[in-house]
Amino acid sequence: MTYRIAPSILSADFSRLGEKVERVVAAGADWVHFDVMDNHYVPNLTMGPMVCQAIRPRMKAPIDVHLMVSPVDAMVTMFAKAGADIISFHPEASGHVDRTLAMIHDAGCQAGLVLNPASGLHHLDHVMERLDLILLMSVNPGFGGQSFIPETLRKARAVRARIDAHRAAGGQDIRLEIDGGVKVDNIAEIAAAGVDTFVAGSAVFGAPDADGGYHGVIGALRAELGRVAGMERAA
Ligand code: DX5
Ligand code: ZN
Repeated sequence: MTYRIAPSILSADFSRLGEKVERVVAAGADWVHFDVMDNHYVPNLTMGPMVCQAIRPRMKAPIDVHLMVSPVDAMVTMFAKAGADIISFHPEASGHVDRTLAMIHDAGCQAGLVLNPASGLHHLDHVMERLDLILLMSVNPGFGGQSFIPETLRKARAVRARIDAHRAAGGQDIRLEIDGGVKVDNIAEIAAAGVDTFVAGSAVFGAPDADGGYHGVIGALRAELGRVAGMERAA
């Protein structure tokens, strides 16, 4: 299992965003998670494609765009042009999920589907072949700094089983990402449920970036993941 840590810049200091993004990648972030909110699909408003374009040249890590917008399709094209690498969206926010997934691939990006805490796994039923990533929300989307919803662990195990069955039947690999309330003290338990990609906003950007703060948190998250990998090898 290759784990990925994707700090969410939602919790970064927006007045110094370019610098913060550079520093978090230098501190060991694998991906940069980019939360797009529209005050319509979710009750908050954040960043658009121009901000994505502005941070793109500041570092080389993939930009993991999480669209919390409705409608979705126009934003796919704009974010692909703005340098996004991965684009995920909520099925409830798209009129035609299969078409939106095809649009993301046609634009040269990887595609992900996002499931809210109360969204069922049936959304995955007919699109597994088109997915590069499944993003499980472990909080209700809209805000950083919320608490992890424990029920998500059971859901993660169920999605992991689906991905493994899909692969066993000759299908492509699909990353399983989690978003919301991920901290040093729960990442091991989440990884043990089959998650391989971890968004962490307040946990990373809540640390002061002076004196190696980001480096310290990302290192602590990775050390916990190393512990899980060790237990898996021993089992
Ligand atoms: C919530 C966002 C998350 C958020 C996570 O709607 O999708 O990416 O930034 O923040 P934390 O890690 O603070 O829960
Ligand atoms: Zn997110």
